[in-house]
Amino acid sequence: MDIELRGLTPAERYKLIVGLVIPRPIAWISTVNESGVANCAPYSFFNAFSEDPPLIMVSFGPRRDGAMKHSLKNILRSGEFVVNLVDEETANAMHLSSEETPEEESEFEKTGLTPAPSRLVSQPRIAQAAACFECRVFKHMEIVPGRVFIIGEILLVHAREGVIDPNTKRISDAHYRPVGRLYANRYCTTRQRFTLPGKLPD
Ligand SMILES: Cc1cc2nc3c(=O)[nH]c(=O)nc-3n(C[C@H](O)[C@H](O)[C@H](O)COP(=O)(O)O)c2cc1C
Repeated sequence: MDIELRGLTPAERYKLIVGLVIPRPIAWISTVNESGVANCAPYSFFNAFSEDPPLIMVSFGPRRDGAMKHSLKNILRSGEFVVNLVDEETANAMHLSSEETPEEESEFEKTGLTPAPSRLVSQPRIAQAAACFECRVFKHMEIVPGRVFIIGEILLVHAREGVIDPNTKRISDAHYRPVGRLYANRYCTTRQRFTLPGKLPD
């Protein structure tokens, strides 16, 4: 079957792309608004792209009413944000925090999460998250009206005790159980891992 995307509606294209590109990592972005209300929401058009400089990218679409997403608004105002990584323990809260809420309502309160101060940025991290990246905007691009890509530079990695070995910097499979986004309200764990034989390229 061949499907030319030109002839499809955006909703049909979305369905194909998010159904085929799976699993996707989830950036659970935490920020604070102008009045000091802590905000968090998940974004799975997200990945890491470079270690030198250390860069991640997130893609923002508009809210249902066409307005800018609150996370993006806060990022553009402050130039900073935190990407919290989602594990099995926090998956439920992450999913709940995706509901579109008025700006003065905090998803932290709604989902029972705790904002914790970050070290290098003014935006809060999620205390319950297994690991977090404190990020500064490296570049922002309005690809087409209403669709914005934010490239963030990771300034600091924060991790729960046991997740990172301080000497080797290896991540512990036992202490870090991330989940991925499939499509709609479907997610997956990363429990079924396998190793392939052969040498890795240098
Ligand atoms: C797992 C998951 C991933 C999502 N990924 C994206 C995304 O990549 N881009 C986007 O614009 N919205 C995405 N959304 C929708 C936002 O989370 C949702 O619109 C949220 O209400 C935005 O909150 P905010 O306005 O407080 O930023 C996703 C939702 C879920 C549940």
